[in-house]
Amino acid sequence: MKDEVINLLDIKSKGIYMDCTIGFGGHSENILERLDSDGKLIGIDLDPYALEKTKKKLVKHDNFSLHNNSYSAFPQILEKMGIEKVDGFLFDLGISSHQVDSGQRGFSYRKNAHLDMRFNNKDNNQPSAKDIINSINLKNLTFALKEYTNLKSPKYLAEKIVEYRKLKKIETTFDLRNAINEIIKSDSYKVLSQIFQAIRMVVNNEIEIIKKTLISTLDYLKTGGRIAIISFHSIEDRIIKHFFKSLTIYKNNTYDVEYQNFDKKFKLITKKPILNKDTSNNRARSAKLRVAERIL
Ligand SMILES: C[S@@+](CC[C@H](N)C(=O)[O-])C[C@H]1O[C@@H](n2cnc3c(N)ncnc32)[C@H](O)[C@@H]1O
Repeated sequence: MKDEVINLLDIKSKGIYMDCTIGFGGHSENILERLDSDGKLIGIDLDPYALEKTKKKLVKHDNFSLHNNSYSAFPQILEKMGIEKVDGFLFDLGISSHQVDSGQRGFSYRKNAHLDMRFNNKDNNQPSAKDIINSINLKNLTFALKEYTNLKSPKYLAEKIVEYRKLKKIETTFDLRNAINEIIKSDSYKVLSQIFQAIRMVVNNEIEIIKKTLISTLDYLKTGGRIAIISFHSIEDRIIKHFFKSLTIYKNNTYDVEYQNFDKKFKLITKKPILNKDTSNNRARSAKLRVAERIL
């Protein structure tokens, strides 16, 4: 999806671009290749390890800065840098393959590890998945399983997890896997991956943060600037679709747009989401890219 992202972001060589989820810098490397020395790339990620690696990867460029923060803090980052508006935002949501595959981060049911799941595993103030799974109340757990999975009987699953943890504290990824397996009486990857993903989304408050951040981007995007968002979860894609829709109204399926909720005008660059053609990577298979441009 890298080519599509770079083409649809329509990079201006002297532009300022924010990669809000820079990770290992795959997209940012391409953006920097298209910028000249007057252009700038600002990269944000919660994961300190990813930023360390990316700093080394991008070493031949000198027109970028990296920030270990949540992308929800991008307005403060811009303010500090004295930048009022940017030419493009990129969000590549969710988790990186490295984070899933890492044996220590606790994202995967395939590897036994401390049940962590924080994107920023050095943030001692943020509760980990272990803290959450052992304390979340039944209502909130049911909500998470209902909203973030398409499993049948989310309430039953939540009740059983709450019952289970009264007898045995869930401390590791394999503890959680064993708990789920005991409840559903099988070792179903489909169930495990969905419940693990749902817990991760709770731990990192992913849905609330993306909703809030998308609204903020509107005040910081130049006219002619673009927002590109890659999502992996149907809930995220629905939020993005509705967000873009609320900025644009179509007449007879053309790109005519009118004001709606916001005082800015946008046009959709992707009428339908662009799907990932690379099916070799399991996680990337569900990726969807949507892009919009501010036109007034
Ligand atoms: C799909 S990966 C991005 C991969 C990246 N585009 C690349 O080319 O390597 C998503 C990244 O977003 C980061 N992330 C998730 N939520 C975040 C947030 N609220 N603020 C900043 N980074 C976040 C994760 O740590 C992860 O590195």
